[in-house]
Amino acid sequence: MSGLALDRARIRELFDLRSDVYATRGGTFEVDPYPTFHHLRETGPVHAGTPHEALGWKGDVFFQGLPYPQRPHFSAYDFETCATVLKDDRHFVTSLPPLPGEPPLIDAAILFMNGRQHRDYRTLVQPSFVPGRAVWWIENWISRTVEQLIDAFAHDPAVDLNTEFCAPIPLLTITGSFGITVEEALDVRAAVTSDGQGAQTLARLLMPIVAARRDQPGDDLISVLVQAEVADEGATVHRLGDQEVLGFAFLLLAAGSGTTWKQMGITLLGLLQHPEALAAARADRGFLRNVIEESVRWTPTDPVFARFVAEDCELGGVELPAGAIVHACLAAANRDPSRWDRPDEFDPFRPLKPHIGFGHGPHTCLGMHVARAEMTTGISALLDRFPQMRLDRDAVAPKIVGLYERGPDSVPVRLEGEG
Ligand code: HEM
Repeated sequence: MSGLALDRARIRELFDLRSDVYATRGGTFEVDPYPTFHHLRETGPVHAGTPHEALGWKGDVFFQGLPYPQRPHFSAYDFETCATVLKDDRHFVTSLPPLPGEPPLIDAAILFMNGRQHRDYRTLVQPSFVPGRAVWWIENWISRTVEQLIDAFAHDPAVDLNTEFCAPIPLLTITGSFGITVEEALDVRAAVTSDGQGAQTLARLLMPIVAARRDQPGDDLISVLVQAEVADEGATVHRLGDQEVLGFAFLLLAAGSGTTWKQMGITLLGLLQHPEALAAARADRGFLRNVIEESVRWTPTDPVFARFVAEDCELGGVELPAGAIVHACLAAANRDPSRWDRPDEFDPFRPLKPHIGFGHGPHTCLGMHVARAEMTTGISALLDRFPQMRLDRDAVAPKIVGLYERGPDSVPVRLEGEG
């Protein structure tokens, strides 16, 4: 294959949920969480404790709102309460000043900003992430990556799409939009998944590109960031500094590569395990929109996001003290039977109805249209190139695993012929 110098062995290692990289997110956790989520929702919208405790996970966890052992934890499980937690940014915020002994949050990342500061910074990058900009992403980065990855395995009789296809597409899309070479993209992935240790690697790779775009902007995301202007508290306007650009870049990589990889795997499994849906998508690529939304409703890759309680308040009949953490279980909310019939079924033929798998309120996923574009372009190309593609029944049956980041452990397919 020309063009994509990817080390396939390293990809398998970096994107293997069983590797150490994913241990602190419950990488190989195999328990189906949904029966527990249903039981909790039926017994009250808000419970003391965290979702992983409810599921019996005993290992370390490192995720938004975790571990924070000094603070009380609560969790919400129904649609309405979870939507309230994500929307009400007066009572529920993404950062509070750390208690003694707690690590500081990365304050250059919009995910950890609140209120006006969050709005101002998010507005800077929003224009590159609106639906109308999807074509910019597809034409510049996504299509080429998809075609080159397919060329690499097109002559193999069988392939694990999870590692060879779903995993690299989002990584190469974002690193491509930064101007980082394919050879360096895997170093970037290793840096981002190292629980905060890898910021220096990213800085080493990105700083020369930032300097070059400050001199001469191009048609890419770093150029957008270095030209962006934001008003300080005193209303003085300034351009983003290097640390702010790095903070944005780090967040986009962390938020945008692992998520879309796993959601694309979940979507492909859903499709390949439901012949009627697969036939409908083959006949009409427009149907992929329903398939993708249903996948994010049915099994969102990130099932839980958390907020700090900013002031004493009541939620779902439970008193929450200021400083506590509340975990909104989006996965449980997305299967709330008061909103969806047969909520445990993957059924892309059901009418589209808003879910909260991409979040809700001010921090709603910035990259959701890019994620949708990646999944649509990727799956559509597979259907075009492999009219006989089907699950490989000789391979070990795939499972959806993980705790705070969930996805399939493989998506094994046979590409040609019947068998
Ligand atoms: C299917 C894939 C994806 C899923 C399921 C997903 C899900 C989410 C969710 C649930 C949130 C809200 C977090 C919260 O409220 O605390 C979020 C925020 C965010 N996502 Fe995504 N995401 C995906 C792909 C992406 C991609 C591709 C990008 C970037 C290219 C991205 C960038 C972000 C950013 C920057 C935020 C923070 C927004 C803010 O704080 O204003 N995401 N995502």
